[in-house]
Amino acid sequence: TSAKLWGGRFSGKTDPLMDKFNASINFDKKLYEADILGSQAYAKALARRNILTTEEKDSLVNGLEDVLKEWREGTFIIKEGDEDIHTANERRLGELVGSVAGKLHTGRSRNDQVATDLRLWAREEAKKLLVYLKQLIGAAVERAEKEIDVIMPGYTHLQRAQPIRWSHWLLTYAWSWQADAERLSQIIDRLNVLPLGSGALAGNPFNIDREFLAKELGFKGVIQNSLYGVSDRDFVAEILFWSSMTMIHISRFSEDLILYSTSEFGFVTLADAYSTGSSLMPQKKNPDSLELLRGKSGRVYGQLSGFLMTYKGLPSTYNKDLQEDKEPLFDSVDTLAGSLQITAGVLSTLTIYPERMRQNLSIDMLATDLAEYLVRKGVPFRETHHIAGEAVRLAEDRNTTMANLTLEDFKQLHIAFEDDVSLIWDYEKSIENRCSLGGTSKQTVKEQIVKLSKWVNE
Ligand code: ARG
Repeated sequence: TSAKLWGGRFSGKTDPLMDKFNASINFDKKLYEADILGSQAYAKALARRNILTTEEKDSLVNGLEDVLKEWREGTFIIKEGDEDIHTANERRLGELVGSVAGKLHTGRSRNDQVATDLRLWAREEAKKLLVYLKQLIGAAVERAEKEIDVIMPGYTHLQRAQPIRWSHWLLTYAWSWQADAERLSQIIDRLNVLPLGSGALAGNPFNIDREFLAKELGFKGVIQNSLYGVSDRDFVAEILFWSSMTMIHISRFSEDLILYSTSEFGFVTLADAYSTGSSLMPQKKNPDSLELLRGKSGRVYGQLSGFLMTYKGLPSTYNKDLQEDKEPLFDSVDTLAGSLQITAGVLSTLTIYPERMRQNLSIDMLATDLAEYLVRKGVPFRETHHIAGEAVRLAEDRNTTMANLTLEDFKQLHIAFEDDVSLIWDYEKSIENRCSLGGTSKQTVKEQIVKLSKWVNE
């Protein structure tokens, strides 16, 4: 016979290597609190069906509270044979309250137990991530507001394209992160349903009150099919996808700033707090924080694809493969918690160089404005695009900028050009022209700031 929870039908011993291979306690101990809350609720539900007397229920609930205290104070001792968090807690409960501990698992399986624990844990962790995400968006919005007058080159294909506000650039990421936050709220909402009471797979034989359990544990509903209850890990996949998507935004943000912090751009420098030096080259200040953020994104995509591979071929209900859901989830949540906070730190402490940004604007970036000038005089855009292109070439041929072409030069290109063509060569004016909703003008950037701050503070 074996001392194992499930040892009754076994006569042979497990290979010690198999014991280690099978054990999840080293990582699923993270679930200790969720596991205890789930068990306390379950004890109450058993008492409602008279499987436990009130005294027995109280003894279990209080004993579990003591186990929780041990975890919190760091005095819980994991013993040999504690296969996972569920067996560890039950073993310790038995030591504290005696044989009544053996009644707790009535009608319950580790299959519905672990599914419940993981949802509870994921729900609480996701709420914390949501707070970090809001802080990050708040930091971006705050900077955008303060530095609204700073202008810089906007790029497509990493080629100078049109002048934009620095704040407009900041807010492109704020909007991505806001979408991430909405996605995460929706995921929290979807995962917040109760599997407990599904039993091993077929359901609970003691008419356990699952609505009561859901209420006790803060779930908004009850999973309606017991097979689905023990089987479903879509929420894990969703959180891993969410993590990947959010890391894409963080990684692209990092890539922009890594470029902008080179001497070649010189638009920003990172605070010392988020940079490191070189052991060889004394002059170096490297943007390691940003490189780590970009690098860690790869790790998160790996967790997503790894888990999807594990999940894809499983027959219905519980299979031990599902134990492989935890490490990718834990690792991704940790990575995201760290990354979101570091990103906020980098963003709110970096120094910007508005003069350098301005020096990198060039008159050719106003070629579109030249075309639009003629549009306003009634010339069809397709023609004006061509004419403006000719102006670019003419300036290039003369080794000068379009701002130095004469009115006569322009008149040669099209008769509609007048004196006021000289007013085009003004970066601020170009920016202020883009004042349709969503554009880079001061007013429309301010509108974004108002909308995002309202959202952050609601
Ligand atoms: N440690 C297991 C897991 O993470 C708990 C469930 C075990 N259930 C079982 N029937 N072996 O999935």
